[in-house]
Amino acid sequence: MQKQIGAIKGARDFLPGEIHKLRYIEQTAVRVAESFGYFEMRTPVFEHTELFTRGVGDTTDVVQKEMYTFDDKAGRSITLRPEGTAGAARAFLEHGLFNEPLPQKIFYLASCYRYEKPQAGRWREFRQFGIECFGSSSAFADAEVISLGAAFYDALGLTDLKLEINSLGCSVCRGDYLATLREYFNLKQDKLCPTCLDRLERNPMRILDCKSPICLSIASKAPTALEFLCADCKAHFEKLRECLDGVNIKYVVNPHIVRGLDYYTRTVFEFISQSEKTKGLVCGGGGRYDGLIEELGGEHIPACGFGLGVDRILLAMEDFDFAFPERPKVDLVLVSAGKKSQLKAALIAMKLRREGYGVISDVLERSVKAQMKYADKTGAPYTAVIGDDELESDRVILKNMKNGAKCEITVSEFTQDFLTAILSDCFK
Ligand code: HAM
Repeated sequence: MQKQIGAIKGARDFLPGEIHKLRYIEQTAVRVAESFGYFEMRTPVFEHTELFTRGVGDTTDVVQKEMYTFDDKAGRSITLRPEGTAGAARAFLEHGLFNEPLPQKIFYLASCYRYEKPQAGRWREFRQFGIECFGSSSAFADAEVISLGAAFYDALGLTDLKLEINSLGCSVCRGDYLATLREYFNLKQDKLCPTCLDRLERNPMRILDCKSPICLSIASKAPTALEFLCADCKAHFEKLRECLDGVNIKYVVNPHIVRGLDYYTRTVFEFISQSEKTKGLVCGGGGRYDGLIEELGGEHIPACGFGLGVDRILLAMEDFDFAFPERPKVDLVLVSAGKKSQLKAALIAMKLRREGYGVISDVLERSVKAQMKYADKTGAPYTAVIGDDELESDRVILKNMKNGAKCEITVSEFTQDFLTAILSDCFK
């Protein structure tokens, strides 16, 4: 026997018995996003590496440590997307969507790839539900983005998530803040990890996001961006708070949120799980990124958005036993006995599927008993056994699997009779 090949570490399979849960979350995402006037955009799973080094920032953990990067056969450096914003911003620019009426509001459901240490709630392939609102600098846009996230979680019954917000300021206030941060970390140089020593030179804000315990503890006492906001950023943050209060969205201000990506300006926020097994897990986050479009070669176009971790949301929902809709089933299993009736069953099945019904007919040439056992396991509400006798007499028994009731219909007019039987409920 050949050696079996397993899935890649940190990547997971969703089997037919559970995929409906993922689909339920995704369909809810589509419904809620569209109800806010956000429409879908799909971008490739891979992009030029430079999009992320420039967009996400080459001092971030995501770019420095976590990207799946490889050269293609022509020697181009390609990266599997670690997040959705850079690709959406590239597509927005490349297709001139800035010429369309602004704001342009898009959403995506995208698999993302990060070479992180797999653990509870952290995978190397994971899914994001993301939205981006291009073209508004108003705090109303930030509030709308946050409201959409809150509405989505609400629709999924995740009502206990904690929303934390912060402001990181803009290019005007950032200068003073960075200088103060550099001074602070300079005094702790001997304790910082080697990556953070490099960050101290290039981008001290990234030290605030380091996962090493010593850097974490030093960072927790560092000055915060909130203390350095310029008048405009302060006003923007105040307005965001007013907008959130106005639509009854509860939040707390956490001046320590920095987020792991470089493009953020002003608003940043995170939704944090409070449920037992997933407590503290960041189920989603986002913010404003007014400089990204310029960084990628466009004009100054302010924007904001979020990325919510679908896999983590699923974990949190399972944690409180969310009543997901049942997994899909077929409506009817046609059991057959012998080649002639098997062909007839296959033909009837084709006709019923065209009418929109889910039907299974035998493809294993098994005994009637084995087919019945299988039919039972599918959970299909109806079965019918078509054998030589049924073909000859043109009569077949349709069985209601829920209550065992039976109803006789014809083989020749099966499609019509089946519909009549289940609609008129002629079962006894
Ligand atoms: P992010 O915080 O890096 O932001 O990722 C968004 C969400 O993706 C996280 O809050 C988390 O729920 C989920 N996530 C991240 N890494 C993993 C992982 N390894 N396994 C499972 N889930 C994970 C962004 O990606 C930004 N693009 C969000 C954004 C959009 N900001 C503005 N627009």
